[in-house]
Amino acid sequence: MVKWGVIGAGGIARRRSIPEVVKFSKKSQITALMDISEELVKEMGKEFGIDRWYTSVEEILKQDIDAVYIASPVFEHEKQVAAALNAGKHVLCEKPMALTFDQTEAMVHLAEKKNLKIGVAFMMRYNVYHQKIKQLVEENQLGQIVYGRAQLTCWYPPIPDAWRQKKATGGGGALIDMGCHCIDLLEWIIGPCQEVTAFIDTITHPYEVEDTSTILMKFKNGAQGVVDNFFNIPDQAAKNMLEIYGTKGAVITHNSIGQDSAGKMWLYLESENKGYSSQQARTKDAYQEVILEPKSMYAQEFDAFSHWIQTGEKPVIHYEAGVRNFRIIEAAYQSSKERKAIKL
Ligand SMILES: NC(=O)c1ccc[n+]([C@@H]2O[C@H](COP(=O)([O-])OP(=O)(O)OC[C@H]3O[C@@H](n4cnc5c(N)ncnc54)[C@H](O)[C@@H]3O)[C@@H](O)[C@H]2O)c1
Repeated sequence: MVKWGVIGAGGIARRRSIPEVVKFSKKSQITALMDISEELVKEMGKEFGIDRWYTSVEEILKQDIDAVYIASPVFEHEKQVAAALNAGKHVLCEKPMALTFDQTEAMVHLAEKKNLKIGVAFMMRYNVYHQKIKQLVEENQLGQIVYGRAQLTCWYPPIPDAWRQKKATGGGGALIDMGCHCIDLLEWIIGPCQEVTAFIDTITHPYEVEDTSTILMKFKNGAQGVVDNFFNIPDQAAKNMLEIYGTKGAVITHNSIGQDSAGKMWLYLESENKGYSSQQARTKDAYQEVILEPKSMYAQEFDAFSHWIQTGEKPVIHYEAGVRNFRIIEAAYQSSKERKAIKL
């Protein structure tokens, strides 16, 4: 078992990562917790049977742990990742890895210098439906991929002192916070993105970061993509869809993009010898539902990272995904500001 510590234990770590790793992981054991709230971390220690808990980063990093999962607010990542690497710990960092591309790159350089592993917590690559889509594309079952769309929205009203609602502490709004996962999924499935155009605005809420973001991506293989992220659509209205279209078929998911490991997926595969139909005939129920057993995305991402430490076999969530992702995000912000397409 790889021994893990958690820095920033109270948010997503408490909601998803820790309970799912404790319950489902085969290679990862969380043995120490840290949060700035003593009351919270003490209570969590009891709840999850973890008897080492701390309120200081220095203290947790002195412990006998192999790796740390950093799930504190984004503005804390840069210094905490550096502290962990300097203490000789491997790091799985929550998304976005930092506030800027330069900070992200600096973390990676430090990890390389220290000969330590660093990854980004893009756990959605481990959703069973996303893995199935990746497999269908790799097997060329959808033909030439021509279009992809990834959507993640929520209702996020103003909250006093919310770090996500300020640029200095969150790095941005709906795009950097939710769009990073969507961009990552499209790049992972379709291939490298080459060019970006974006409209990024704040049209509903009174905070400074964007609540409204649509970006258009052009991939190296010619396919096009759309990533749409909104902080101003009711939660119950959200479908959080992933759609991939090729010349021989298509897949559509509903609610597979999100923190829940489940979702729904429909697949259409074209039969042989399709010709041109001037009627553009469409059968009502051409798509077939695909039903797969959900598996914890968070336990899988921890175990893939632990496996990397144990065997040297790189997981799909290694740092390159986080660095590339940031380049696209910064290009999208630049595109929206300068009102032009940005080549990567
Ligand atoms: N992958 C996912 O499913 C997912 C979902 C939500 C958030 N996230 C990411 O996780 C990170 C945290 O987001 P969140 O929504 O959990 O935030 P949050 O504000 O809800 O929780 C953050 C936790 O960190 C603690 N904290 C604050 N300052 C700290 C410090 N200096 N050192 C240690 N702990 C500190 C807080 O007390 C709190 O318990 C962000 O990078 C976010 O983008 C990922």
